[in-house]
Amino acid sequence: MDNDNAIAGDPTAIPHLLPPVAEHPRTVARFAGLAATLASDRACWEPLVRFDATSRWYHRLRTGPGYEVWMLSWVPGQGSERHDHGPSSGVYTVLEGALTENAVGRGERVLTPGSFRAFAPGYIHEVVNASLEPAVSLHVYFPGLTEMRMHPRTRAEPAPRAPLAC
Ligand SMILES: [Fe+2]
Repeated sequence: MDNDNAIAGDPTAIPHLLPPVAEHPRTVARFAGLAATLASDRACWEPLVRFDATSRWYHRLRTGPGYEVWMLSWVPGQGSERHDHGPSSGVYTVLEGALTENAVGRGERVLTPGSFRAFAPGYIHEVVNASLEPAVSLHVYFPGLTEMRMHPRTRAEPAPRAPLAC
């Protein structure tokens, strides 16, 4: 039986009825999804990881229109010092090990694989590997990171935790 209200043929072949498929992420949720997808693809990132005791190692894993993905490694005791990210927003996650984040106004938090932190421009934090094992993290910045202003601690503020000793 014919139905006068039905679309004849394949409705997905009518492009003007469909929203365009986003080739690249544009929302915080999509950037978090990108970070999760890359984090789960261990074969993609693990062979690239290096550890450098003299300075934090970093590698740009991917770029896209308006965003960059960086991978960082942290040996025990290495940290970022307190900084912002200029006009960039970001999402980051830990791929291996554990990192301790101390964010201005938000306190301390330990991130392990599977945990994410999303932030907007103006977010100020300090990240340190306060564990006894090396750590690897993945950071998505949108737009790509062009500024990273340092915000030194005042004398009254405690220093971040040192690696735990036995
Ligand atoms: Fe940061």
